[in-house]
Amino acid sequence: MFPQNRPRRLRQTTQIRDLVRETRLDPANFILPVFFDENLDKDRLTDSMPGIPTHPLKGYEGIANKIEDSGVESVIVFGVPKHKDCNGTQAYADKGVVQQAIRGLKENSDLLVIADLCMCEYTDHGHCGILTPDGYVDNDRTIQTYGQIAVSQAEAGADIIAPSGMMDGQIAAIREALDDNGFSNVPIMAYSAKYQSAYYGPFRDIACSAPGKGNRAQYQMDPANRREALREIESDIEEGADIIMVKPAGPYLDIIRDAADRYPVPLCAYQVSGEYAMIKAAAANGWIDEDRIMMESLTSIKRAGADMIITYYAEKAARMLRGQ
Ligand code: PBG
Ligand code: ZN
Repeated sequence: MFPQNRPRRLRQTTQIRDLVRETRLDPANFILPVFFDENLDKDRLTDSMPGIPTHPLKGYEGIANKIEDSGVESVIVFGVPKHKDCNGTQAYADKGVVQQAIRGLKENSDLLVIADLCMCEYTDHGHCGILTPDGYVDNDRTIQTYGQIAVSQAEAGADIIAPSGMMDGQIAAIREALDDNGFSNVPIMAYSAKYQSAYYGPFRDIACSAPGKGNRAQYQMDPANRREALREIESDIEEGADIIMVKPAGPYLDIIRDAADRYPVPLCAYQVSGEYAMIKAAAANGWIDEDRIMMESLTSIKRAGADMIITYYAEKAARMLRGQ
């Protein structure tokens, strides 16, 4: 007559709900993206990314203090160079923008600094690699350059190298270059399943990295594909990836779950610029509760199986978790 099972018994009070909660967020698992532009002498704001400044190459201590004060311990660094060329040479310059930013942060803080490794911010055509004369991204030349970039980032003091270009064999090429140059202890966080997503739009406003012609469909993954993500992740692990990544996060929770179930490797998910910008825009209109949507979106990503999350909400969410 009456239900034997009453799941509501365990929902009656805050204490009992706290007791049975399956997923908990922790600031130690958040990674904040941080942007530097060597053309600037003061912070620049980007309309489509409220609250995410681009910094000049100075004031590292202040930048780091604010982040560390929130409880966030890790950042991923992106650079916008003064000079772009067809081969993206500033991506591996010893005094390149990201190399300087890494040195500045490492010398002035205890942050764990992850270096995003790609060429789209550094090439005048905006693609993630070197083009052949007919405009195709030349995979094998590109991954050679990725090796050089990785070494320059490790020399600058990067704690982890995170290649995001989706070239075939990039993890093996980078691992070999790092090992040959005395960096066999520097881990690789592989953007393994990175989709060709419209959710990257606001990032390209910040990083000035939109491709001039065409799109990234010839190297980033088709959003319709699920099995292919597992194949990409598997080959990255075989090539030596220490941490794997699924990107974007929220719209790809199924891929996160597949990866978490299958591979005994730490899994990162990237809540990308478009995911953040959509929440910000709806919140600015008063249509949603920003704090609650922020926490729910991050909890869902973790519940799907992500061990760590790259998110523009890192500081705000960390503060909230710490009751700050
Ligand atoms: C560079 C890179 C991109 C992002 C991270 N690394 C942009 C792209 O592939 O166009 C996107 C991050 C975001 O949208 O927040 N390859
Ligand atoms: Zn790129």
